Amino acid sequence: MATAETSIQEPDYVNSPPTLQVRDLVVSFKVENDFPRAVDGISFDLYPNEVLGIVGESGSGKSVTSLAIMRLIPDPPGKIAEGSIKLRGQELLDISYEEMRDVRGNEIAMIFQEPMTALNPVFTVGMQVMETIRTHENVSKDEARKRAIEMLTRVGIPDAAKRLKEYPHQFSGGMRQRAMIAMALVCHPKILIADEPTTALDVTTQAQILDLMLELKQKEEGASIILITHDLAVVAETCHRVVVMYGGKVQEVATVEKLFARPLHPYTKGLLASLPSTHEKKDRLYTIPGNVPSILQMPEGCRFCTRCSEVIDRCHTEEPKLHDIGNGRKVRCHLLEEGING
Ligand SMILES: Nc1ncnc2c1ncn2[C@@H]1O[C@H](COP(=O)(O)OP(=O)(O)O)[C@@H](O)[C@H]1O
Ligand code: SF4
Ligand SMILES: [Mg+2]
Repeated sequence: MATAETSIQEPDYVNSPPTLQVRDLVVSFKVENDFPRAVDGISFDLYPNEVLGIVGESGSGKSVTSLAIMRLIPDPPGKIAEGSIKLRGQELLDISYEEMRDVRGNEIAMIFQEPMTALNPVFTVGMQVMETIRTHENVSKDEARKRAIEMLTRVGIPDAAKRLKEYPHQFSGGMRQRAMIAMALVCHPKILIADEPTTALDVTTQAQILDLMLELKQKEEGASIILITHDLAVVAETCHRVVVMYGGKVQEVATVEKLFARPLHPYTKGLLASLPSTHEKKDRLYTIPGNVPSILQMPEGCRFCTRCSEVIDRCHTEEPKLHDIGNGRKVRCHLLEEGING
């Protein structure tokens, strides 16, 4: 974990039930006369006090998964076609739009990959942050303004008192992202979904924002974070467990320690090999050959078979199962059955 004070509350996988349970979730998008699946039957749990990383290259289905949890999939063309998303046992896919609006913000807040998803262009940034505070807490306008300035300052917006009066379009991309992060954090959510929260920011600000997220999580009893990122170094620093996604499917689930010490899925091995090493000088960084296939052109069999360096014949025709290999670790690869891996 990043700092000493952020490592006090740890998840208890044995005695506490998960806060969030995602089961067999399928999200499809209408493309001409087809309904390809951007997320294809994913399941995972999020425990109280946990920081769960979701990693995978661009196009793996990470953002679609988080938008589905928030019930914000654009419909049409998108649709949650199958599955279940339970928050402390309550099925989120069955509740009304109004009830879901209460869940959003009160219980689950999201830092979007695209800041304008959360910011309204016709209101000042200050008004939006203050409104968010006042929706959740019974405080005066002056108190809300004070808190808004405080939070905007903490996410690194200089001269926050003045910038409060500006509109989102007067903010740069990085500043907009910070404002959106502030809005998500002032809600004190039980679950914070952070979708690539720091990509538009410089390294120092990235570290500050991650620390701030962890610090606020610690203050909220039982709160957890889903951190979506393609940066495995950030995962190593901040997360307890990791879900590796590719082609809209979960490919591997493991604790951070186990994943980094001994990745089992060839895709995870590829992602780790692409990481710059701190102790070993590499002339050129490894990159996984090829690209993530489009949802319209997913290969038969294993989704990763077009790029896998360990591919065997059956990978091209047979979809591998997600094998549970004990202690919460899961791997979707035929090599486990072949006795070559595992
Ligand atoms: N509105 C949409 N219409 C059609 N396809 C979409 C839409 N949104 C996402 N997708 C597709 O779903 C797949 C997963 O996307 P996404 O979840 O954004 O990936 P990630 O966040 O892992 O980069 C991609 O192939 C993307 O093109
Ligand atoms: S099932 Fe086959 S193609 Fe897929 S990851 Fe395993 S070895 Fe590679
Ligand atoms: Mg994304």
